[in-house]
Amino acid sequence: MSTRRLAFACWLLLLVCLSVLGALIAYHYTPRNITPCEVFGSNLCVNIELRPPSPPPHREYTDGQIASFALAKELLSKPSKSSKPKIAFMFLTPGPLPFENLWEQFFKGYEGLYSIYVHASELARLRSVWKTGVFIGREIRSQKVGWGKIDMVDAERRLLAQALLDTDNEFFVLLSETRCIPLRDFEYIYDYFIGGNISYVDCFDDPGPHGRGRYLDYMLPEIQKDEWRKGAQWFAVKRQHALLLVADHVYYRKFKFFCKPGETNRNCYPDEHYVQTFLHIMDPGGLSNWTVTHVDWSEGKWHPKSYKVEDVAAEKLRSIQAIDEHVHATSTLKGQVTTVPCMRNGQRRPCFLFARKFLPETADALLTILPKVTWLTGREVVKG
Ligand SMILES: *[C@@H]1O[C@H](CO)[C@@H](O)[C@H](O)[C@H]1NC(C)=O
Ligand SMILES: *[C@@H]1O[C@H](CO)[C@@H](O)[C@H](O)[C@H]1NC(C)=O
Repeated sequence: MSTRRLAFACWLLLLVCLSVLGALIAYHYTPRNITPCEVFGSNLCVNIELRPPSPPPHREYTDGQIASFALAKELLSKPSKSSKPKIAFMFLTPGPLPFENLWEQFFKGYEGLYSIYVHASELARLRSVWKTGVFIGREIRSQKVGWGKIDMVDAERRLLAQALLDTDNEFFVLLSETRCIPLRDFEYIYDYFIGGNISYVDCFDDPGPHGRGRYLDYMLPEIQKDEWRKGAQWFAVKRQHALLLVADHVYYRKFKFFCKPGETNRNCYPDEHYVQTFLHIMDPGGLSNWTVTHVDWSEGKWHPKSYKVEDVAAEKLRSIQAIDEHVHATSTLKGQVTTVPCMRNGQRRPCFLFARKFLPETADALLTILPKVTWLTGREVVKG
C-alpha cells in the first residue's frame, strides 16, 4: 500500500472521528474545555499532569474521559453492517511463520471472507521467505517490538488501524507470533465471530501482585484501582471496539508513561493490561472475559507448556476443543481459582478457536491431523 494512500486514509479516519466528536461536543458541552490533545493527541501531550497519589473523595471525570465516553456511546450504538463481512487475521510475529502451510490450508476456499495482516517486527522484508500465496504482500509497516513494553501495544494498534481501513473487516483477531494454530475450520471460526455480539478479551480482576499489584496511583484519575484488569494479550474484537482502541489517547498515554517492565515499575506489562482495562471501562458488558486462544498453564511454570510432536494427537486436540469453561487464578498467595462457563449469545459454548504453543517441529504432524481429523470432527463436539 502506498504511503500516500495510507496517509490519506488515516486522515480520513481521523476526520470522521473528529467530526463525530465535534458534533457531540458542540451538542453537549461548551467547546472551550476540550483540546484535541485529550482525545487524539500525541507528542504534543507529553507534559502529562501528575495527580497526587490519592483517589478523589467522589468520582470526577476529566474532559478527555467524557469525550471518550461520548465517542464510545456513539460507536456502540451503531453496529457496522457490511454486506460481505470479513475477518481480519492479524499476525504479530518476529519473522516467518512455521505453520504457514497449515494456515494456507485453513484459508483455502474462503477468499473474500478474510483479510490477512502481518506485523513482522524483526524482518522488515518477508516477501522473499513466504512459501504460499496468502501471506505475500500482506506485511504492514512494522517496528521493533520489545517484550513486555508499550511497543507491543503500539504494534497491536498499528495492525488494527491498517485492518480498519478495509470497511468490510468486522472482526479483528490478534494471533500470536509463530506458535499458534487454528483449532477449528474456517467456517466454524467465521460463524463464531460474525454471529456473536461480543468481543473476546481475556479480562479479570486479580487482587494479587500480578494484577492490582501492578497498578500505580499515577493511573488516577482516569483509572481507579477497582477498574484495573488483567488478561492474556490475544484478543478478538468487533469493529466498534477496534475503532475505540485506535482512537484512544486518554487511557493509552497513562499506560505509555506508567506501565513498564522492571522492578521499579512493579513489572507492569502493557499488553496484559491496556486493552483489557480500557475496554472493560468503555463497555464491560460487551466483553467475553476469556480469550479464544488456548494455552496450557497447568504445569505451573513461568512459561506455558510447549507442545511437542508426541503431544499432537487427535484426542488431545479434541479435549481442548471441548473445553467450555474458563479458569482464572489469582496471583495471591492462596491462588484463588474461579471457573466460569463460556457464554456466547446467552448459551454455553466451547471457548477456544486457536491454540498455542506448538513447537515448529510439530508442523508436519499438525498438517496431517488438523484438516482431516480435528477440523472435521470439531463441529460434532459442539453439538454434543
Ligand atoms: C464480563 O464481565 C463483565 C463485568 O466485568 C460483565 O458485565 C459481563 O457480562 C461479562 N461477560 C460475560 C459474557 O459474561
Ligand atoms: C448479546 O446477545 C445476548 C442474547 O441474544 C443478549 O442477552 C446480550 O445482552 C447481548 N449483548 C450485547 C453486548 O449486545
